[in-house]
Amino acid sequence: MSLPGSPVGVLVRFARVVSEALEPEGALRALADAAVAELGADAAGVFLVTDDGAVRLAAGRNLPPSVAELEVEALGPELAARVQGALAEPTGAVDALPHVLPHVLPHMLPMVSGGDLFGALVLAFREEGAFDAARRELAQGLVDLAAVAQRTAAQLHDLRRSNAELRAAREALGRAEKLGALGHMAAGIAHDMSNVLAPLVGDVENLKADPPTERVGKAAARMSRYLQVGTAMLDRLRRFARQAPEAGHVAVDPAPAVRDAFEMCLRRGLERQVEVRLDVAPLAPIVVSPSELTSGLVNLIVNAIEAQPGGGVVDLRGGLDAGGRVWLEVRDDGPGIPEGQRARLFEPFFTTKGERGTGLGLASVYAFVQRHRGTIGVATAEGQGTTFRLEFPPA
Ligand SMILES: Nc1ncnc2c1ncn2[C@@H]1O[C@H](COP(=O)(O)OP(=O)(O)O)[C@@H](O)[C@H]1O
Ligand SMILES: [Mg+2]
Repeated sequence: MSLPGSPVGVLVRFARVVSEALEPEGALRALADAAVAELGADAAGVFLVTDDGAVRLAAGRNLPPSVAELEVEALGPELAARVQGALAEPTGAVDALPHVLPHVLPHMLPMVSGGDLFGALVLAFREEGAFDAARRELAQGLVDLAAVAQRTAAQLHDLRRSNAELRAAREALGRAEKLGALGHMAAGIAHDMSNVLAPLVGDVENLKADPPTERVGKAAARMSRYLQVGTAMLDRLRRFARQAPEAGHVAVDPAPAVRDAFEMCLRRGLERQVEVRLDVAPLAPIVVSPSELTSGLVNLIVNAIEAQPGGGVVDLRGGLDAGGRVWLEVRDDGPGIPEGQRARLFEPFFTTKGERGTGLGLASVYAFVQRHRGTIGVATAEGQGTTFRLEFPPA
């Protein structure tokens, strides 16, 4: 049986194909294809050594399912024996592979790159002697090319991933900086406005207590109410602006703060036909301001309630993970958050609620969590609800 094409032509063609492989497995699939198409093998498998030393099938052509399911522990004679055994299995193998008869002869070519053995090409020929010297030479060329391409693609893959991680870190940093600048500005405004309002509050209270006319008394009462709303707003602004870690925080059991948040939201939920449920396993102490934890959770629960205008369920859950970190989750069955909005969620003033929203809820939860060395994450899919998860390191 002579080779179907000239070896150089085959190698050149194959080099072109594998150099275009963008992901590591692409080069290995091309190798399995070439083994069948160019070398005339009846079946081919590319096995990879994984980081933990095990071996797995990365690509195969004409392999019976029993090989795909094979868990191969070691390269070498054992692998060869097991592949041979699997290929020779008369049941299943024959159905899956009509032209590979029970007696196949597997050949193994190790894949080496940079001195490391990282895999093997296994070829099966039905005909004895079919894997001749010319084929062996060509197969070795294909394997070497695929090894280089696989390594390059793997490096490219790693590079892309670390690029993406870098970008995410940069975005998080930008967000923290923006929050910091905004906090400074907000603190300044809140301070100046309080100075303006404080004397006004005094005057209005005096007028309300002793109005010259009934009309003025009514107006003073209204003004007093508005002033209360205004000073409460300034208070919130000041709280939001407080970016620096507060001194004097000690380790506390977060459970009471979690329960407070739950109780504060129960009624709010019921008014909107949303059942808020609490399911928290025993937690461990964390360094946190309990009142901030409560308002952070309230923010998340209120968002979850607001995401379900037609009613529904909100779950407040919590526990300890394997690393001893305290996790708290708020889950809803709302519409989820569209992909395009996810990157902006924690941005101050980002809201999709128009006039009704402030866009400060998630920004302040984010700032609070950061200050306490915790993390905040969101899992959401359109139409499948949203889960916000907070994690705090053990004290
Ligand atoms: N559970 C949720 N489900 C769907 N969207 C949410 C949820 N939580 C937050 N969002 C989105 O994030 C935006 C920002 O939330 P937030 O910072 O609390 O501000 P606000 O609630 O005032 O809009 C919301 O307007 C909404 O679009
Ligand atoms: Mg909100």
